[in-house]
Amino acid sequence: MTRFTGKHAVVTGGTSGIGRATALRLRDEGARVLVTGRDVARLTTIGEAEGITAVLDDAADPDTGRRLREAVDLHLDGRVDALFLNAGLGAFAPVGAAEPQEVDRQFAINVRGPLLQLAALDSALAPSAAVLFNTSVVNGLMMPGASVYAATKGAVRSAMRSAAGELAARGVRVNAISPGPVDTGFFGATGLGAQEIEAFATTVLGQVPLGRFGTADEIAATAAFLLSHEASFVLGHELVVDGGMS
Ligand SMILES: NC(=O)c1ccc[n+]([C@@H]2O[C@H](COP(=O)([O-])OP(=O)(O)OC[C@H]3O[C@@H](n4cnc5c(N)ncnc54)[C@H](OP(=O)(O)O)[C@@H]3O)[C@@H](O)[C@H]2O)c1
Repeated sequence: MTRFTGKHAVVTGGTSGIGRATALRLRDEGARVLVTGRDVARLTTIGEAEGITAVLDDAADPDTGRRLREAVDLHLDGRVDALFLNAGLGAFAPVGAAEPQEVDRQFAINVRGPLLQLAALDSALAPSAAVLFNTSVVNGLMMPGASVYAATKGAVRSAMRSAAGELAARGVRVNAISPGPVDTGFFGATGLGAQEIEAFATTVLGQVPLGRFGTADEIAATAAFLLSHEASFVLGHELVVDGGMS
């Protein structure tokens, strides 16, 4: 497929997991792709792939929007047709253990970051551009230990709905993808130990009717659809991709 021939795409957090799979897919379908991340080694690895520009940009940095805009002006001629606001992480703890620094950290990366990035790229969005937020099925589940992470993803969903209503007048479509459990680096970044991750995975698997974790490529396929002209009448929608978990 060549749905993105001549298109310019940005994928935040594009060095691993869902973001990386989506970046490579958009590239394979013809887009010029710019990805962001924090890990220099990962950025170097994906930056060596033909058609991918890798830029150091921490979503938690209050300056993330300005940096991203500069990179888009430099590498994508100041034009974005497909924007996947994907960078994010989660950590899990009981409600009684929430600490101010941890709440701020998750909100800075998962909520403030994409809002500032969208603000900075607003005037770079092409007519009929598509914007996609990455939320999580957790935002609507009663998942123990996930109150802070779920709150960030609920906020992302709300931001998406408002932005969709605002940018539609220009022909820009804003949507969200809401993955269930996906086999990526996400769980390793939660701060849980190997045994805790295994126990968590066993519990979660019992809640997924398809009986397995999703793959990054499965999420990328749906993300690419929502970012493509094939989804031209889809607006303000949160598309759940979770093997039936919710
Ligand atoms: N995996 C799941 O089960 C699942 C389910 C629902 C939703 N999600 C969401 O999917 C998104 C991608 O996660 P993933 O599963 O693909 O995990 P992953 O493999 O850990 O990838 C996360 C990506 O985000 C980047 N990132 C993290 N913090 C960042 C920051 N502060 N600034 C810039 N980049 C940052 C990472 O790059 P660096 O290492 O360079 O920082 C990496 O490229 C997240 O928003 C996550 O909440 C995941």
